[in-house]
Amino acid sequence: MDFIELVNKRYSVRAYKSDPVEKEKLLSVLDAARLAPTASNRQPFQIIVTKTSRKKTKLLSIYSREWFVQAPLVICVCGIREKAWVRKDGREYLYVDVAIVMDYITLAAADLGLGTCMIAAFNEENARKVLSIPPEVEPILFTPLGYPDDLPGIKKRKKLKDLVHYQHW
Ligand SMILES: Cc1cc2nc3c(=O)[nH]c(=O)nc-3n(C[C@H](O)[C@H](O)[C@H](O)COP(=O)(O)O)c2cc1C
Repeated sequence: MDFIELVNKRYSVRAYKSDPVEKEKLLSVLDAARLAPTASNRQPFQIIVTKTSRKKTKLLSIYSREWFVQAPLVICVCGIREKAWVRKDGREYLYVDVAIVMDYITLAAADLGLGTCMIAAFNEENARKVLSIPPEVEPILFTPLGYPDDLPGIKKRKKLKDLVHYQHW
């Protein structure tokens, strides 16, 4: 699949099959995350991969949508603030780094026929408890990882002219 095709194919999957994710596919997805660029190459992130089986109720306290626990795996990308690059004026780039890592995960997954959905609207306190995340590590984005059990909708996006400004062209 070429890259533009992949970008069009990826969508937020909100229904999953319980079919297992092959170990090689999981490793490919995680390796894509490892190769993601980060500011000053600090790689200030950690990835938690958890199985949903036997842990559904606890995981639902993190994000209470049934589809969150339908897939066999849930991934959390965490940031470590003290390791992240900060611009001279104090602007922190931790969230940018983590977003890119998660983006690589979602695109690699889509390339392998797997579904994902980035989730920011989770309960941080419960995530810390359920996944034993230490204070210096911040859970920033979650996604289920599994085979889609829904179909993509139409992509609703603004027009290029409303997003792009060509200056001094
Ligand atoms: C940073 C970020 C956080 C998101 N958080 C959630 C979330 O908490 N719950 C959810 O259902 N979708 C979440 N999404 C998915 C977006 O709603 C979705 O990407 C957007 O509507 C575009 O749809 P598409 O991914 O199918 O192209 C999030 C996406 C991003 C990029």
